[in-house]
Amino acid sequence: MKGKFIVIEGIDGCGKTTQIEELSKWLPNSGLLEKESRLITTREPGGSLLGKKLRRLILDNNENNKPSSLAELLLYSADRAEHISKIISPALKNNDWVISDRFCDSTLAYQGYGRNINLEIIKNIQSIVCQGEYPDLTFFLEISPEESILRRKNEVPDRIESEGIKFLQKVNEGFKIIAKEKNWKVISASQNIKTISNQI
Ligand code: TMP
Repeated sequence: MKGKFIVIEGIDGCGKTTQIEELSKWLPNSGLLEKESRLITTREPGGSLLGKKLRRLILDNNENNKPSSLAELLLYSADRAEHISKIISPALKNNDWVISDRFCDSTLAYQGYGRNINLEIIKNIQSIVCQGEYPDLTFFLEISPEESILRRKNEVPDRIESEGIKFLQKVNEGFKIIAKEKNWKVISASQNIKTISNQI
């Protein structure tokens, strides 16, 4: 038996991390997992050992280290290839469940819709990178770009978070299109934490 693969997507500040914490407290006692199955929570970028190094490189705010859009796409893809090979696939094969904070469609939303890289090129790269592992269920936590910026006003932004509202609007529109195409569970993330976690 193969474990289940759950992904949570959304723009920065939508509350993915909090909801993953809530879900990972609830799931082990939900009766859904088999007795011997473990629950693994992970994230992109940065879910593997190499990925942690890549995350620092990718999100570095130093203007001199800013990658080109194509290099950025390939760095996120390298992170994912390693994440799938070393963490996600072995866990699922072992009948463990995996919850990932972001996956392939973050690349389509941020580098595709956000950076205007050709969507077909991204899809082709992701079809190689994903090695046949696709989520069983994806939740999209939806907030407006304005709310995203407001929620993060006291935080030091990483390189992607520094892009500003226009970029975020394009990413958000992208996520909405993908959510419709792929029949994701869309949840309004403007609600309180408990209401959202109950819905999930
Ligand atoms: P996080 O803050 O949700 O951990 O994600 C780090 C940033 O990386 C976030 O601003 C979204 C961005 N990102 C992409 O641009 N492309 C991707 O493929 C992924 C996984 C994240």
